[in-house]
Parts: sequence; C-alpha cells; structure tokens
Amino acid sequence: MMTSWHIGPVEIPTRLVLAPMAGVSVQAFRRQGRRYGAGLVCSEMVSCAGIEHRNERTLGYLRVAADEHPLAIQLFGCDPRPMADAARMVEAAGADIVDLNFGCPVRKVTRTGAGATLLEDPDSAARIVDAVAEAVDVPVTVKLRRGVRNGSRACLELGPRLVEVGAASLTLHPRSAEQMYTGTADHALTAELVSLVDVPVVASGDVTSRERAHEVLAATGAAAVMVGRGAQGNPWALREIVEADASAPSREEVAAELVLFIRESVRELGERRASGFLKKFYGWYLGQGRFPKPFKQELVQLESTPEVERRLFAAAPGAISLVAQLEAEIPSGDEVTIELPISVYGGG
Ligand SMILES: Cc1cc2nc3c(=O)[nH]c(=O)nc-3n(C[C@H](O)[C@H](O)[C@H](O)COP(=O)(O)O)c2cc1C
Repeated sequence: MMTSWHIGPVEIPTRLVLAPMAGVSVQAFRRQGRRYGAGLVCSEMVSCAGIEHRNERTLGYLRVAADEHPLAIQLFGCDPRPMADAARMVEAAGADIVDLNFGCPVRKVTRTGAGATLLEDPDSAARIVDAVAEAVDVPVTVKLRRGVRNGSRACLELGPRLVEVGAASLTLHPRSAEQMYTGTADHALTAELVSLVDVPVVASGDVTSRERAHEVLAATGAAAVMVGRGAQGNPWALREIVEADASAPSREEVAAELVLFIRESVRELGERRASGFLKKFYGWYLGQGRFPKPFKQELVQLESTPEVERRLFAAAPGAISLVAQLEAEIPSGDEVTIELPISVYGGG
C-alpha cells in the first residue's frame, strides 16, 4: 500500500485514493485524507456549466490548498468545448489532474446527457476526453460506473476507447447507475478492465478495510483502491488501510479530529453553511460505539459550531491539547474564504 505509482508524470505516494463525494469532499476532508494516508484526493464533481457561467459558488470549488497535492478536480458536463474550457480553469487553479465524471447516476445530472449517460454514448464520451486532453497539459482521468443498466458491461468497451483518445487513468466503480448504491461492487469487472488497458486503473467500491484493499488489489491488478463511504467521519480507516499496525483512535482523538474538521469547515464554508453541512458528520464520527447514541442527537440540535465544540471538549477534555497539537502541526492552507457550494447532486 505504501509504494508509489504514477498517473502520467504525477507521482502518487500510496495505493490509496480518497473518493470524490458530492456534499462531502470539501477541502477539509481532502486535507485530512492526505494526512491519514491517501496518496491522491479528489474534489467532488464540479459543474462545467457552472464554471462556464462563472458561477461564484462553482468557482469556489476550484480552491486548492498547498497540502492537498496531488489533487484531482472532477468535472461533469456533456459538451466537449465547455468541458475543455473548464478543464483549463481547473489546471490554472492548480489541480494536478483533471478527472471527468462519467458515472453519476442522479437524474438531475443524467438527464442533461452528463454523468452515467455518457456510458451509453461512447462517441460523445470520446469527444469529451479528446477535447479535454488536447486542452490541458496535466493528465486527464475518467471515473466510470459499469454501465447504466444492471449487468451492463459498457465500461469494458468504453474504457479502452477513452484511453485511445487520451485518458491517462480510469477509475471503475463496478455498479450500474440503476443500482445506485445497492448490491455489491463487482470487481471481477475491474479485473477485466485492467487486462484491457495499459494505463493504471483504480478500483472503487466497498473497500473499507486493509484486508479488503489487499484482496481487491490482488484480484484485479488495479494500481490502487479508492475509498469513499468508509472514510466518512473515519480517517482512521484510511490509516488502517495503509499502515499494518495502525491502532483504533481513542475518544479524545476522535473528538479532536472532529473539532479540527469543524473549524476547517467553518473557515471554508462560513458558519451558516458549515453548521448544516457538518450535521451528517457528527453521526459518522461519533457512531461505531465511540460515543453514546444520544450524544450525537444532542450535537445535531445545537445551534452553532462553537457550542458543538464546547460540548465535545466537555465530553472528552483530553481533546483540547490534541487539537492544539494538530493545529500546530498542519500548515494553515490557503487563506481565502469564499462561500463554497455544497452540491445538491450526489453520486458516481
Ligand atoms: C455521498 C456520495 C457522493 C458521491 N459523489 C460522487 C461524485 O461527486 N463524483 C464521483 O465520481 N463519485 C461520487 N460518488 C461515488 C464514490 O466516489 C464511490 O465511487 C462510491 O461511493 C463507491 O465507493 P465506496 O463503496 O468506497 O463508497 C459519491 C458517493 C457518495 C456515497
């Protein structure tokens, strides 16, 4: 897990990639992922139309902190020209990789011809990759689902074609769009894709432990595994995957990491947006038997993040010095505070 690999010229220090997740993959999440062992992190999908129209909120997604690299910014859209223009802006913003979303199953996205729809429109998909790869110097990668319908094998035809026109790496989440998140990821298909292309393939879907990560890498020949839901409120899962002897966090460590995440999110999103955004994270962090269940409910009902912080410190006083230590260790990141959007879309 701790060996490096490359996407084009970009060196990725570990075999673990943090998944793009709409409404989750803010800068605070990505920076935390890097600290806990992800070799590559990715923004949530960013609307190409939003960039084209210089939507201020969309542009907020293009903020890159110094300690995020290597970082991919993911775009979704369906027209080659605007996608190429958006990719140029992503490159100018400092992303190391431009990733394209050809997997989002949400209707709001698919009905525009973007996301998973492109799995069944190989000509448009190839035109987009071709145009984007022409437009930027950084590597262009694509994230796919297996196809639209259950049982589809569309990714096996599309993947090699996208590599021919310039994709430097493919990530496969081997569920159909129809499946959304039900059933299991069929990594037999990932193994087939690996055998068909000569670029690195990343395996996404249902990797939540070191054991499973090793199984998937061995069974598929993929260059890396991607972890999404398993890392929500649980950066320790990332550490467990990359380090053989990682230990479970103490209550104090969990509270400290959550307080840091709260502070970083507020810096990034502003108090109002952050307090809504953070509610789902309280359950993710405090679950798994780490804190009593009613405690989470209590936090969700508090009005402001400073109150949440006070309540966390009261429950785990040892966290106070841990937060100070963490803040002293991490670089301060970029200092711009723009209102960032939390996407209403969700998925890939
Ligand atoms: C809340 C949520 C949001 C997601 N948003 C995106 C996205 O913006 N772009 C994308 O390519 N995939 C997205 N995905 C899919 C994940 O990147 C990943 O492929 C999928 O969750 C399977 O991996 P997992 O089992 O490790 O979660 C999202 C998944 C979830 C759960």
